[in-house]
Amino acid sequence: MSSRAIRGRLLSFRQRPAGRDDIGAYSYVEDGLILVDADGRIAFSGTYDASKIPAGVAVDDHRPNLICAGFIDPHIHFVQMQVVGSYAANLLEWLNSYTFIEEQRFSDPEHGSRIASAFFDELIRQGTTTASAFCSVHPESVDAYFAEAMKRNMAMAGGKVMMDRECPEELRDSAERGYEESSDLIAKWHGKGRNSYVISPRFAITSSPAQLAVTRVLRDEHPDLLLQTHVNENRDEIKKAGELYPDYPTYLGIYADYGLLGPKSLMGHSIHYKPHELDMMRESGAVAVSCPTSNLFLGSGLYDLAQADRNGIRSAVATDIGGGTSYSMLRTMDEFYKVQQLKGGRLDPVSSFWFLTAGNAEALGMEADIGRIEAGKFADLVVLDARAVPSMAIKMERVERLEEELFMLQTLGDDRCIAETYVAGVPMKSALSL
Ligand code: GUN
Ligand code: ZN
Repeated sequence: MSSRAIRGRLLSFRQRPAGRDDIGAYSYVEDGLILVDADGRIAFSGTYDASKIPAGVAVDDHRPNLICAGFIDPHIHFVQMQVVGSYAANLLEWLNSYTFIEEQRFSDPEHGSRIASAFFDELIRQGTTTASAFCSVHPESVDAYFAEAMKRNMAMAGGKVMMDRECPEELRDSAERGYEESSDLIAKWHGKGRNSYVISPRFAITSSPAQLAVTRVLRDEHPDLLLQTHVNENRDEIKKAGELYPDYPTYLGIYADYGLLGPKSLMGHSIHYKPHELDMMRESGAVAVSCPTSNLFLGSGLYDLAQADRNGIRSAVATDIGGGTSYSMLRTMDEFYKVQQLKGGRLDPVSSFWFLTAGNAEALGMEADIGRIEAGKFADLVVLDARAVPSMAIKMERVERLEEELFMLQTLGDDRCIAETYVAGVPMKSALSL
């Protein structure tokens, strides 16, 4: 039984495009129809056909706007909403001067709930329907995050950061506490609603060898879970990790030795690799999660997508709020594009939209449920208006092809282009009290 019908231009990806003209990589329906079943999944998607719409089901008509699978942000810090735009010379100064101060406030459950509510409102405003978030060290922050995700029926991933050294006392757990709190949170939240728990050792600097060892135990006990961390983001960070783990010739080698590298590992930033680390990334099947606005803002470096592709390394693209400077995945993709320009690479706009949807879904291992407009997937959708502001409307007068429209959305677009965000078939953006 259909609970909703949605009409508009539909774009969905089958695979990563080989280039701008790879029309076999996606399906595009000029006048499309999506029928949503009572569970929020897509019952039908294809060419508009009024006879398919059951009696009594109203149609949300979004023509001439474009409908894609909802955007997916595979690396974001929900506890850093009030850190965004903090003036610092580099990553380590930024962490010590602002981030490690701000995250202390999440020992207060009320603060966590207030920020979680603002955070989810913002994701919806930006067309992001799934994210993988780092919470703070406090279990209360994870409770706030997943409780809010369940209220909105969103497919959200995340976990408590484990950190037991090189940070203020108030943010330290211990190897044992990190293990126990993570285990309890997994039992409490993983698989509840659409929630996925992510094992989250912050990075090797703030995790002692004992903590990385218990992280391995957690992994072995929960082989189906994702793991997220940071690596090779900044030259000083790499140097410090090397000083704290002097037996390891490479930063990535630390994680590999503790059994933390595999196809479910989301390696945030992944900018400055030594040749052997490229081999480790490829052989393990880990995902390099690039965070372009953050890397530019903190002066961390330029991610080389062509190098990753040449080496058979999986890539994903994320905001990294609050090192990142925009919640918008469109703005993020614009900066990712510019970074590839500086690296002498090419990134066509069709591939960009694959990253934003099916590509990032595959990175999270969630491709069975999200990332495509297809029968059986959740109706997590974004409606994109390429004429949302006068400057875009005037440019659109000269746009003839889908690829040009996508490129314009990426280059000039932001939350103003998000005409609607659907979560499991329910319109969420129009329901926000702005
Ligand atoms: N490395 C360790 N923690 C963080 C963080 O919060 N943000 C960024 N950008 N890098 C990190
Ligand atoms: Zn991060």
